[in-house]
Amino acid sequence: MKHARIAGTGSYLPEKVVTNDDLARSMDTSDEWIRERTGIRRRHIAADGETTSSIAVAAARRAIEAAGIEPRAIDLIVVATTTADKIFPSVACQVQRKLGISGCGAFDVQAACSGFIYGLDIADRFVRTGGAENVLVIGAETLSRIVDWNDRSTAVLFGDGAGAVLLEANDRPGIVAAHIHADGEQEELLHVPAGVSSGLAELKAQSAFIQMNGNAVFRKAVATLDSIARETLLGHGVSADELDWFVPHQANLRIINAAAKKLGMPAERVVVTVDEHANTSAASIPLALDIAVRDGRIRRGELLLLEGFGAGFTWGSTLLYY
Ligand code: UT7
Repeated sequence: MKHARIAGTGSYLPEKVVTNDDLARSMDTSDEWIRERTGIRRRHIAADGETTSSIAVAAARRAIEAAGIEPRAIDLIVVATTTADKIFPSVACQVQRKLGISGCGAFDVQAACSGFIYGLDIADRFVRTGGAENVLVIGAETLSRIVDWNDRSTAVLFGDGAGAVLLEANDRPGIVAAHIHADGEQEELLHVPAGVSSGLAELKAQSAFIQMNGNAVFRKAVATLDSIARETLLGHGVSADELDWFVPHQANLRIINAAAKKLGMPAERVVVTVDEHANTSAASIPLALDIAVRDGRIRRGELLLLEGFGAGFTWGSTLLYY
């Protein structure tokens, strides 16, 4: 049976940068508070006319180029997002059109910040069962469009961006294990209340923005990231010492540090990019991965643990050889 191996990574961050000081000019916050509580220094914001599908394509082109394949060779596109351009069609179909490769399967996955991990799990199964040979998995978000810029408790936390990987069928391992989970019982701790079936005519501005109980989500994230790490490592007879890199969801540096400490991963083997782009939900893990691949930290053959946690709640992990 073939393995699903990452042949190339890519990412894209919109040009416009908003620093903590920029935010402090329009709301009651400070660079010091944001850095101390979250580790975030700046976020990138999509320009007018930039959409989730356009930034997804930008990241995808870089991943395809890094993989050294023709776009035509892609036989499945999976996009993880919570901020689709339209109710339908999917962002994946729009990406396919923009890449000019109509014909292959294309669909979106909605698992909030864990979406990329869900997408990798799906793609891995397609590759291992012979259903696809080259799968484009993208995490892309324009969260700035669903942030209430008058609410300092959430506005400082989020940003826009996209990350992508091209997974190929290969004789060498690749993805070793993938686990996904969800607990729908605590929906209101982190959600955007507005939705199609509630009736868009009834939409009130407030309900179209991210609402979060930060403290409760923080505690749940730390505990859950620890349990998924244990499940993955124990289940596959791997110890934390054997991991080369821990690539967690980039939401908050304090959550990342707490999860790394519980896992026993020293800071120098943890990929942190949240300072540069804030929480980009489904895009954060592939963004972190691509940044660390391109700056030479992550090298071929190294063992990586990817972990995600987000609204739903959803969570999951991927253990893979890069
Ligand atoms: O991707 C998964 C989704 N989300 C997350 O992972 C985020 C999880 N949660 C968090 O990252 C943290 O809970 C936050 C960063 C959101 C908040 O940090 P905290 O240490 O839990 O702070 P807090 O909510 O307990 O707030 C402390 C104080 C409050 O003031 P009082 O009540 O103590 O006077 C807040 O009103 O900080 C105040 N505050 C702010 N002050 C300055 C809240 N937001 C801000 C702000 N600037 N932006």
